[in-house]
Formats: sequence, structure tokens, C-alpha cells
Amino acid sequence: MGALSKLAAILALTCAASTAFATCDDGEVVVRFSHVANTDGHPKGLAARLLQDRVNAEMDGRMCMEVFADSTLYNDDQVLEAMLLGEVQMAAPSLSKFEAFTTAFQVFDLPFLFSDIEAVDAYQRAPEGRTLLDSLQPYRLQGLAFWRNGMKQMSANVPLEMPGDAAGLTFRVQSSAVIMAQMEALGVVPRPMAFSAVRDALQAGVVDGQENTWSNIYGQKLFEMQDGVTETNHGVLDYLLVTSVRFLGGLEPATRDQFLTILREVTETRNAAATAVNEEAKQAIIEAGGVVRELTPTQRAAWVAAMAPVWDQFADRIGPEAIAAARRLSD
Ligand code: LMR
Repeated sequence: MGALSKLAAILALTCAASTAFATCDDGEVVVRFSHVANTDGHPKGLAARLLQDRVNAEMDGRMCMEVFADSTLYNDDQVLEAMLLGEVQMAAPSLSKFEAFTTAFQVFDLPFLFSDIEAVDAYQRAPEGRTLLDSLQPYRLQGLAFWRNGMKQMSANVPLEMPGDAAGLTFRVQSSAVIMAQMEALGVVPRPMAFSAVRDALQAGVVDGQENTWSNIYGQKLFEMQDGVTETNHGVLDYLLVTSVRFLGGLEPATRDQFLTILREVTETRNAAATAVNEEAKQAIIEAGGVVRELTPTQRAAWVAAMAPVWDQFADRIGPEAIAAARRLSD
């Protein structure tokens, strides 16, 4: 799509959405927050809703937040451009989706780098993680916080027990070179596509499998089109809560301080609950008749070995210090 028609499409979507959600009063700073996940039973959806509820209750008359969930406004590959155009003020794409701007987030996509979600949390709180929040400033974007989802699992229309089971299949992936390489290491054909398209693509047989967190697999009912979900915990899917430098800088200092305080508190509360939300989603998949496969230590070692070449491919670009820090915090 050309730049002008892209802009026209963005504006058309924006007008339609603002008609439907016009609840803010005159004089309030309007914060439009667009994301692609469902709300109930989803770490990001629940965090966005809590943020909206608190801002609207505690900052009434000064700030008003409207959350557009479920890709109703933008996909992740559109939302940052829309933010720079001033059409939305907040978004929370997964860390894998910042590659067009910087390779600094690729460390989160390296398979089997972080031992678990606690190690990811420790990295995000460490200086290595904190500096990433400012890494998008050259693009006039400001990271505000890391929002947690959790570890990714693999699913396909055939049982996945050993890595060879995936060879020859086509998997939907997020648009990340590391994740593409990870799939290629398995002999899988990676197919990047928007999150909102995955269910239909699985149903139509356009792709055979996918990787995602329990909450995304349950939220989009992806397990219904799959033979089963294998608990690989091979990678992480977290988010960068992001705004524009211009929006943040334009707020009155007192308004900005209160907004950032609420945001910090919501982040702590909801990040602490994310693992439980994913565990509930996993149980819900089982209760709905979905198959969940656990790996034996031997099977797991085979998945680790199959994906190991990806480290060599990306180590220089990601930087040995970042990888060493992630390993240290995983011990
Ligand atoms: C995906 O595209 O699979 C995820 O980034 C969606 C999300 O926001 O959790």
C-alpha cells in the first residue's frame, strides 16, 4: 500500500473507532491505547483494562483513556506508525515486533536463552533491560515498561514430540528474524502474519502450526485447530508498553507524574499475576478437550540442540554481553 493510501486507511479506521468509543470529556487529555489481544484471561488485556479503569477513575477531568483491544483499531505492524501520526498514544507490541527499529530486543527471541519467566523479569529489571526502554528515542518513541505475558509453546496439526516432527510444516511466526531462523533450524517454513489472522490461517490450512503463550493459544482458540500443544517453553513473549516522546513530553508535569505512577503500579500488579493467568489458560485448554503434551528430559534436550544453531547466527548482532547477562540471570 502506498504511503498516502496507508494514511487514508489509518484515518478511516481512526474515525470509525473514535465514533464508537467517544466517551472522553472536553478538556481531558485523551489516551488511545490500541492492542491486539483479548481482554479477559489475557495478561496484556487485563493490564490494559486495569490501567484504563484507574486512569479514568483517578485522573477524571484531566486524562481519559480508551482501550481498543482485539486488533479492532490496528495490527502491530501499523500501530507504531499510527502513534507517530498522533492517532494513538499507547501500544504494547510484543518485544519481537521492534526489529524494524532496532536489533536490541532480539535477545528475547533467542530460543532457550532464559531458563524461565523469572529470569526474563530479572533481565528486564537489570541495567541491560532498563536501557532498552530508551532505545527507541531516535525514532521518537518511548518505552514505558515491560509488560509480561510468558513463555511460548509450540502447536501443530500433527503431534510434536521431537523437533523432527515439525520438519516440512509451515508455521505462523511473528515478524522476527530470530524466530524465522529458529523455525528454519527445525526445517519449518516460517510464515510471518498478523496475530488477528492466525486462527483463520490455521483453519484454512494456510499454516500447519504456530508458537505462542498459553493465554494467546486459548484466547484465540488456536488449540481447536491443532492436534495438540507441546509445552516447550522455548522462548519468551513479553511486551514493550510504548508511547511517543512528543505525547509524554507534552503532558503537564503533575499529570505526567500521576500517570506514570499509576502505570508503574499497574505494571507491578499485573506482571505478578501473568504466570497464573497463563496457567489458567493452559487448564482451560485441557478442560475444553485440547491436548497438552509435556516433554521428557530427552525430548527437551533434542529441541534445545535443534535450535542451538540460531545462537551462532545472531550472537554477534545481539552482543555477547547481552547473552552473558541473560545466562547469568538464568542461573
Ligand atoms: C503475536 O503476534 O503472536 C503476539 O505478539 C500477540 C500478542 O500481542 O500477544
